[in-house]
Amino acid sequence: MGISRFYQKHLMPTENPRVVLITGATSGIGRAATLLFAALGDHVTAVGRRADRLDALAQEIEAQGLSGRILPVAADVTDPAAVQRAVGLTLAEFNRLDVLVAGAGIGHRGALVDADWDDLDTVLRTNIDGVLHSIRAAVPALRASGGGHIILISSILGPVPAPYAAAYSMSKAALEALARSLRGELKADGIHVSILRVGQTNTEFAARRLGQPGRVATRWPAMTPEHVAGGIARALERRPRTLALRWIDALFVWVGQRFPALMDRLLARVYG
Ligand SMILES: NC(=O)c1ccc[n+]([C@@H]2O[C@H](COP(=O)([O-])OP(=O)(O)OC[C@H]3O[C@@H](n4cnc5c(N)ncnc54)[C@H](OP(=O)(O)O)[C@@H]3O)[C@@H](O)[C@H]2O)c1
Repeated sequence: MGISRFYQKHLMPTENPRVVLITGATSGIGRAATLLFAALGDHVTAVGRRADRLDALAQEIEAQGLSGRILPVAADVTDPAAVQRAVGLTLAEFNRLDVLVAGAGIGHRGALVDADWDDLDTVLRTNIDGVLHSIRAAVPALRASGGGHIILISSILGPVPAPYAAAYSMSKAALEALARSLRGELKADGIHVSILRVGQTNTEFAARRLGQPGRVATRWPAMTPEHVAGGIARALERRPRTLALRWIDALFVWVGQRFPALMDRLLARVYG
């Protein structure tokens, strides 16, 4: 299934299957994570809007004979009732919820003042409201299951924003505050919150980006979604606060936070 050799060595099938709800499971990182967790023996509620993609994913899991079960739920994360329904169906099917992977997201590129408001609104509603709805729906179920783990799929542009990506950078920066705030709020419930600062990854993300689609930093190396999925599974074991999966992404964040003027000049060239 294309999982990188590093994670093949480190990830073991889970002894007691976990129940994992993944948003954004119809493509890219969420899809790869669904396949990986099913391969490890976990049960997955796979959420996304494209029902045909979810059906194909369920068929693939069956065809591969993976030991975990999948519950496909077509839902839009910007609709709180739809996300509540996904959690309700999860409890009905698997009786518990152990992990939320909030992965549904969309990008935007272009000058802020020239952008269509609808596009900016979609980015903010999906990347912020969608994550809030997912958390608010999942936490009571995680609490009832005795604790758990929330993994927010963010970006290196959360801590280090880029020009011509204001709405997207803002939406991921909001997740940094959200993760930090929630950590204190949910600690007593035994619910850990991790934020994954993902760097460039080969998925449909660039093609589906609103505004000006297409890859921005063409010379920046890209990961496979399977590698990111391995990082998500590893994060469940190690329970980090924040995580970058490659030294190059960690360095980007480190330089961007310590030398902001330098990084802003570099990013203006790349994104300009
Ligand atoms: N690829 C990268 O370079 C990169 C870098 C940094 C961070 N990330 C982050 O990684 C996450 C996953 O992105 P990806 O790279 O895997 O991109 P992708 O292949 O385009 O996947 C995005 C997923 O989000 C889902 N989604 C979007 N809007 C939704 C909505 N309103 N309701 C439910 N699901 C929705 C899509 O499903 P439907 O369209 O079927 O609903 C799809 O499954 C995103 O949060 C993204 O910001 C990606």
